[in-house]
Amino acid sequence: MFGPKTHCVVVVGAQWGDEGKGKVVDVLAERADLVVRYQGGANAGHTVDTGAGEFVLHQIPSGILQGAVCVVGNGVVLDPETFFTELDALAARGVKYDGKLYVSDRAHLTLPFHKLLDRAREKHERIGTTGRGIGPTYEDKYGRRGIRVGDLKNLAGASTRVCARVAEANQMLELLGYAERADATEHVALLERLAPRLLPLAVDAGRVVYEALARGEAVLLEGAQGALLDVDHGTYPYVTSSNTTAGGAAVGAGIGPTAIDAVLGVVKAYTTRVGNGPLPTEAEPAIAEEIRRLGGEFGATTGRPRRCGWFDAVVVRYAVRVNGLTGLAVTKLDVLDTFAQIPVCVSYTLDGEELDTMPADGESIGRVRAVYEQLPGWQKPTSAVRRLADLPAAARAYLDRLQDLARCPVRYVSVGTRRDQIIEVP
Ligand code: IMP
Ligand code: MG
Repeated sequence: MFGPKTHCVVVVGAQWGDEGKGKVVDVLAERADLVVRYQGGANAGHTVDTGAGEFVLHQIPSGILQGAVCVVGNGVVLDPETFFTELDALAARGVKYDGKLYVSDRAHLTLPFHKLLDRAREKHERIGTTGRGIGPTYEDKYGRRGIRVGDLKNLAGASTRVCARVAEANQMLELLGYAERADATEHVALLERLAPRLLPLAVDAGRVVYEALARGEAVLLEGAQGALLDVDHGTYPYVTSSNTTAGGAAVGAGIGPTAIDAVLGVVKAYTTRVGNGPLPTEAEPAIAEEIRRLGGEFGATTGRPRRCGWFDAVVVRYAVRVNGLTGLAVTKLDVLDTFAQIPVCVSYTLDGEELDTMPADGESIGRVRAVYEQLPGWQKPTSAVRRLADLPAAARAYLDRLQDLARCPVRYVSVGTRRDQIIEVP
C-alpha cells in the first residue's frame, strides 16, 4: 500500500462495520510509522489475531500491536475509562506504548452520563446502539457544550461544566422516564483522576500527523464502523453519529484532504450488520445462522449476534463512490468455502423499478428487493492460500466479479483471522 507516492492511506469500512478493518490495519501497520483513529469511540470493536493471541480494541488504534506510534484524533469521542482499562490490559500482555500513544487535545470526552442518556434514548428510539454513549457525546460536541481532553488543564472550569451537564442530563433522564441518575460528585472525581494520566498524552494531533507526513513517514488513518453507518451517507436514522467515510478522516485527524493519497475500503465477502435498520441482502434464518456460525459473527463490543446475508454490490458500489475508494480489501473469503452456490446482489428493485444505487430514506431501503446473480462456489479450503494464483479458479472468479460490480480493484484478500492469512494482489 505504502510507496514513494503513497504516504497517507485511509482504511475504511465499506459496509455496516465489522468488515475486518482491525486485521487489515494490523497488516498494513507493519509498514506504517503512525496510525491514527479519526472518528467513533468505544462503540468500535477491532479484533486482531497476531498469531500469539487475540486482542479486541475499542479505543486504542490497532497499530499499537505493531509498535507504530498511535494517535487518537480530534474526531474521536474518547471514553477515558475504556481507554485506560484497555491500555492496562495491553501492558499486562507485554504490549509497550511508552512514548507511542498520543491523544488529541481537541477530542471530546464520553462520560458516564452520556452512557445513561444513550441507554435511556434507546428505550424509545430502538436504533440498536452499542450503549457506549456515542450519540450523546457527539450531540454535546455539536451543541457546543462538550468537554474536551484539553479542558482538563483547567480542572476547576471543567468540573463546573460537568456539574451543569450532569444536572441537565438528569432532567432529560427524568423526562425519558429512566430511573437511573448521574452523580455530579462522581463525575468531578473522575475528571480529577483522569487529568494526571490523560494530559501527558494530550497533543495537537493534527500537527503530529502533519509533521510526520512532512518527514515522509507512512501514515495510516484507521476508520471505525462502515459507510452505511455514516451519519450522512448511511441508512439514516439507523447509523452511528460520526462520518465514517473517508472525508471524515481529514477532518477527524486534523489534516487537509489533499494530504490523503489512497483510500482502502474493507469489505467482507458477504454482508453483516449489528443493530437495527434495513439490510437488503439479509439471508433467511437457516442460511444466516450458517454464515454466522462459520464466520463467528458476534459483535466484538456487545456480543450480539450479527445479522448475516450475501454480498451486496449496490452497497459496495455506493461506498466506493462516497469514499473515493482506490482499492478494496476483501475479508473472510474462507467463510464461503463450503457453499456450492453463492448469491451476489447486483441491483435492487423498488416497486418494480430497477435501482442501481442506495435510496436516501430508510423506508425505501427497507422495501427494496435484492436482485441476485448466482456464482459457483469453490468448495475447497482457502485459509492456507497466500498467493492469488493459488486460489481455486471459482474463488478468483468470485473476486473478479465483486471488483467488476463494485467498480474498484481488489488489493488484498483475507482468508482467516491470523495476521499471516492475507493475500496481497500483485
Ligand atoms: P452507536 O454507534 O453505539 O450509537 O450505534 C449506532 C449503530 O451503529 C448501531 O446499529 C450499532 O450496532 C452500530 N455500530 C456502532 N459501532 C459499530 C461497530 O463498530 N461495528 C458495527 N456496528 C456498529
Ligand atoms: Mg467491529
